[in-house]
Amino acid sequence: MVAIEKELPLLQLDVRDAAAGLELSRGAKWNQNEADWRFFLAKGTVYGMRDSASELIATAALLPYTKREAWISMVLVTESWRRRGLATRLVDACLDSAMRLGLTTWLDATPAGAAVYGPLGFAPTIQLRRLRLERGTSAGPGNELAPGKLGDFITCDIDAMGFDRRDLISELCGRPGSRLLSTNEATALVRDGRTARQIGPVFAASPESALALVAEIVAGEPGAHLIDAVADHATFLDGLMRAGWTIERPFQRMRFGRTAVQPGEPPFAVAGPEFG
Ligand SMILES: CC(C)(COP(=O)(O)OP(=O)(O)OC[C@H]1O[C@@H](n2cnc3c(N)ncnc32)[C@H](O)[C@@H]1OP(=O)(O)O)[C@@H](O)C(=O)NCCC(=O)NCCS
Repeated sequence: MVAIEKELPLLQLDVRDAAAGLELSRGAKWNQNEADWRFFLAKGTVYGMRDSASELIATAALLPYTKREAWISMVLVTESWRRRGLATRLVDACLDSAMRLGLTTWLDATPAGAAVYGPLGFAPTIQLRRLRLERGTSAGPGNELAPGKLGDFITCDIDAMGFDRRDLISELCGRPGSRLLSTNEATALVRDGRTARQIGPVFAASPESALALVAEIVAGEPGAHLIDAVADHATFLDGLMRAGWTIERPFQRMRFGRTAVQPGEPPFAVAGPEFG
């Protein structure tokens, strides 16, 4: 580790940094769009570091969901600045803030991220698989899907997470381009991302009904889709792969500290690693 880099000041970012944050997402080929960055910057605490030319080179965000639980995400370091301890310092700052506020923190880690978080004291919980489906513009019209009910969707989310993040779910559902859809046995959100439409969370009575809803969604929308499936739902995961989805990367959900929260049955797919 080089001394001069340790001295880069740790800054607290605000909504004016949304475009610079998006550039970091673009550099890592992540799917967040500017609306996601605005949400983190407006509702969370986002730490960052700039190089000598004032370019944003590293970030980490703490997003409180309740008075007890928070998510950490957007841990991004520009390629040329990696392996100099920047991510460790930024996540440490998030943990300090969380501890001051009495928050238990959770995150969904890429393999590189997990190598940073493990030594800081994060412990693994469930595993996720990110899958992608490429589609041209030839997708035909799917069956008409009924709009889902936001209140019911929030209830499913609270049951699955073990805590209430209705502000996030309401904001994601309310964005232009978002669709909350349901059948008799399944409900899912699909929303815009930087490179692909993101499907999730997905709640369903069975893997078959979850797969049927996902199939209807992609049949009715052209372009690429992403989904972050819970790995324990093996039948769902297998069904996605049989339908042409390919695994892009694993994510490991991790938690720092003890929690009284008791998550219920996990959803078939989560909202996304940046939100959990
Ligand atoms: C993951 C990432 C944030 C790490 O940032 P960083 O500033 O390089 O991390 P640090 O320098 O603090 O790393 C601390 C330790 O974590 C481990 N580590 C970090 N990156 C690693 C990698 N790619 N592979 C294996 N171990 C790694 C090492 O033990 C490292 O210590 P060392 O350099 O002394 O060996 C950065 O590689 C990145 O932005 N990657 C792309 C986006 C991403 O995956 N973000 C994490 C999302 S959960």
